[in-house]
Amino acid sequence: MAAVEAKAAVLRGFREPFEIERLRLEPPDPSWKLVDVKAVGVCGRDVVVWKGGFTNLKPPLILGHEVFGEHEGRPVGVYPGVVGPECMTPDGSFSVASCTSYTILGEEVPGGYSTKLWAPGWNLVPLPDEEYAKYAAATCGVATYIHASKVAGLVAGMRVLVVGASGGVGVHGVQYLKMLGAEVLGYTRSPMKGEVLRRLGVEPVLDPLGYRRLGRVDVVLENVGASTINWSMRWLKPGGTLVLIGNVEGAPITLERPAYVVMRELRIVGSAAYDKREYTEALKLIGEGAVKPLYRSYPLDRINEAYSDVASGRLVGRAVLTVGG
Ligand SMILES: NC(=O)c1ccc[n+]([C@@H]2O[C@H](COP(=O)([O-])OP(=O)(O)OC[C@H]3O[C@@H](n4cnc5c(N)ncnc54)[C@H](OP(=O)(O)O)[C@@H]3O)[C@@H](O)[C@H]2O)c1
Ligand SMILES: [Zn+2]
Repeated sequence: MAAVEAKAAVLRGFREPFEIERLRLEPPDPSWKLVDVKAVGVCGRDVVVWKGGFTNLKPPLILGHEVFGEHEGRPVGVYPGVVGPECMTPDGSFSVASCTSYTILGEEVPGGYSTKLWAPGWNLVPLPDEEYAKYAAATCGVATYIHASKVAGLVAGMRVLVVGASGGVGVHGVQYLKMLGAEVLGYTRSPMKGEVLRRLGVEPVLDPLGYRRLGRVDVVLENVGASTINWSMRWLKPGGTLVLIGNVEGAPITLERPAYVVMRELRIVGSAAYDKREYTEALKLIGEGAVKPLYRSYPLDRINEAYSDVASGRLVGRAVLTVGG
């Protein structure tokens, strides 16, 4: 296929406003398929890139890996991991951590902050309906937590603290944890967002030392990272597991009291994204209405307003950029 005309929001400098530009997009490989983008989520990962937190990435960049739209007139979700043939299994299951060819849409190749996107055919997954924004809001969070739950060994009846529970990953992830039968506590700095969590059946936590009143947990899912991890690990029972999912500031993480980890035999493990099978499972749950999507929509042209709302902490859940009708 030949290059196509597109309108995209281009990151030309870290922490600078995006520029809306008309450009031509070449397919990175002739076999790649064209998607007319309808909605794309602003992931916390995109915000870390925007801040310059990924030192391997240099502008200009077209971000966006939470992409939903139409391929040849049919609704599709675009699995965001770009992988080599050795990881393209027929059922979509593979280990992201071991897949050395894994990169993500919107970083090494242009992403979905655009009217058009090129993606490998293997990455296109049929959508049950055309409500693109709800998938853009919730899929990354649910798929991330499907994977993180496996990493944590989470089973029904366990107590879990989610740190950063009101963000796009957290607020959709907690709903999946409830489905698994976990008892879920969610940390947020905002009482208003705490009430949203309560309505989802999550015990809101505003006090970092709240374990003294509420009791300790089996698992901590850490979406925030550097600024919270030294208190969030104190919530763990001896032998408990902290899963590091995100680090919103992109800052180095220092273990202030290593003896605490040693003497309580705590485990700290990472959770790397999700495979295509986990992504497809998330789409199914959202399509069935098992997950309530929480988001605010912005036309692509108003991306800088979306980023300003994310940065100021005004949003609960995702900012979703919409394209076209
Ligand atoms: N490992 C993976 O597979 C994976 C997948 C997707 C995303 N991520 C990562 O997960 C992280 C979160 O992503 P997201 O999409 O949920 O981001 P988001 O929508 O921007 O939400 C981040 C949340 O973190 C909280 N927060 C921010 N700064 C904080 C601070 N200093 N102290 C306490 N809480 C703070 C905020 O909650 P309050 O305003 O309520 O306090 C906010 O709601 C990012 O680092 C992203 O890169 C990882
Ligand atoms: Zn994401």
